[in-house]
Amino acid sequence: MEKFVIEGGNRLEGSLSVKGGKNSILPILAAAVLCSSSEGVELYNIPDIVDMHVMTKILQSLGARVKYKNNTLLVNVEDLQSYTISDELMREMRSSIFLMGPLLARLGKVRVTYPGGCAIGPRPIDLHFKGLEAMGARIKEEKGYIMASASRLQGTEIHLDYPSVGATENLMMAAVLARGKTVINNAAKEPEIVDLQNFLNAMGADIRGAGTETVRIIGVEGLGKCSYRIIPDRIVAGTYLMAAAITGGRLLLKGIIPVHLDAVVAKMREAGVGIEATEDSLEVIGGRLKGVETVRTLPYPGFPTDLQAPIMALLTVAEGNSTIIESIFENRFKHVNELKRLNADISVKGRTAFIQGVKKLYGAEVEATDLRAGAALILAGLAAEGTTVISEIKHIDRGYERIELDLQQLGAKIMRI
Ligand code: EPZ
Repeated sequence: MEKFVIEGGNRLEGSLSVKGGKNSILPILAAAVLCSSSEGVELYNIPDIVDMHVMTKILQSLGARVKYKNNTLLVNVEDLQSYTISDELMREMRSSIFLMGPLLARLGKVRVTYPGGCAIGPRPIDLHFKGLEAMGARIKEEKGYIMASASRLQGTEIHLDYPSVGATENLMMAAVLARGKTVINNAAKEPEIVDLQNFLNAMGADIRGAGTETVRIIGVEGLGKCSYRIIPDRIVAGTYLMAAAITGGRLLLKGIIPVHLDAVVAKMREAGVGIEATEDSLEVIGGRLKGVETVRTLPYPGFPTDLQAPIMALLTVAEGNSTIIESIFENRFKHVNELKRLNADISVKGRTAFIQGVKKLYGAEVEATDLRAGAALILAGLAAEGTTVISEIKHIDRGYERIELDLQQLGAKIMRI
C-alpha cells in the first residue's frame, strides 16, 4: 500500500491555484443523468481525484459514455440502459446515493444498496427517502437492496428536519423533471448547492433560491446539453492555507472564491494567522499561532466540518488552549489518536475536543482513517520534527489531486512511496 513520508520543518513558500470541488462534481455528475440530449455535457475544472473516477464508473455502468482529459469531462447519457447500481460501486462511495433522484426522475425507478463512504459515523439517508416519498416515490427494502419507483414524481412542499447537503441535492435533482412546483424548506446553503443549481439551469431547469434556506424548482419536460465550469474546492483551499500556516510559511492561493472561506479565514485570523484577501485570492503571510476559544462546526456559512481535522492539527502547535466542537457528525475525531502519536495534547469528551498547544510535534508512523483526517496528518507531519510516515493514503487521494506534488512545489519534503 502507498504511503507518504514527510520530513518536517520546512516553511512552505509560493503560490498555488486550486481546481474544481469534489463536493461539486459528485452531485453534478449525478445530475448529468437527467440530460437525455444526444450532445451531452462538457464539464471544466474537474479535479483528477478518485471519487470523481468512481462516479464516472457508476455512470458508465448505467450506460453513459464518459471521457476525461486535462481536467475536462465529456458526459453523454443519451441512452440510459439500467436503473441498478451494483453493490460494490455503492460501497465505494456514499455519494452514489445522489443517483436516486435523477434515476427516479428519468426512468421512474432505481435500485441501490445502502451507501458506503468514510468512517465518520453512521450516515443515515432518511431525509433523502422522506423527501422522495413526499414526491410520490414508493421506496421499499428487499434483501439489502433499496427499490424505489414512481410513475412520475409530483412537485410538493418539503421541510427538511436538518439542512442535509446530500438530501437537498438529491431532492433538487428529483424535482427538475417532476410535475409542477417543488419547494425545499430548511435546505442546505453550501456553495456546492448553488453550483448544482447553476449547472441544472444551464441544461434548461428552472430552479431558484439555492444558497438560501428555501429552494424552489419548477418541473420541466426535459434537459439539454450544456458546458459548465465547476467552482473551486473551498476545502482543498482551506487545507492548503493551514499547511502554510502550520509551517510558518507564506502562500498565495489563486483562482479561488474567498467568500466561500469567510468562516475559515476568520477562525485562522483568530488563531494568529495573517491572511490577506482579494476578490479571487487569499494569501497567508505568517503569524504566531495562538489557541482559539472555540471552533464549532456548523452548516454553511458556519465553520465547515471538513476542515475540523485540519484546523485541529494547526491548533496542536498553537500557544495556549483551544476547544473544537464537532456538531455535524457524531464520530469525526478518528484523527485525534493519530495526532497524539505525534505528541499532540488532545482530550475528547463526546463531541468536544480539548487541545493544549505543545512546543513541538515529533514524527511517527500514523494512519489516515478518512479523507480529512489524512489531510490533518499531512499538516502535522509538515510541522513535526523528524520523519512522519502516513499509511492508508488512498483516503487522501479520494479528495486531493496528487497533494504531494502541490506541497513539493511549495518546498515541502514529502514523498509518495
Ligand atoms: C456532504 O455529505 C459532503 N459530501 C461531506 O463531505 C460534508 O462533510 C457534509 O456534506 C457536511 O457538509 C459531499 O458533498 C459528497 P449531510 P452529506 O447530509 O451530504 C445527517 C468530505 O470530506 N443526515 O449534510 O452526507 C448525517 O448523518 C465529505 O468531503 C441525516 O441524519 O452530509 C450527518 O450527521 C465528508 N439524515 C449530517 O446530517 C440524512 O438523510 C450532515 O449530513 C442525511 C444526513
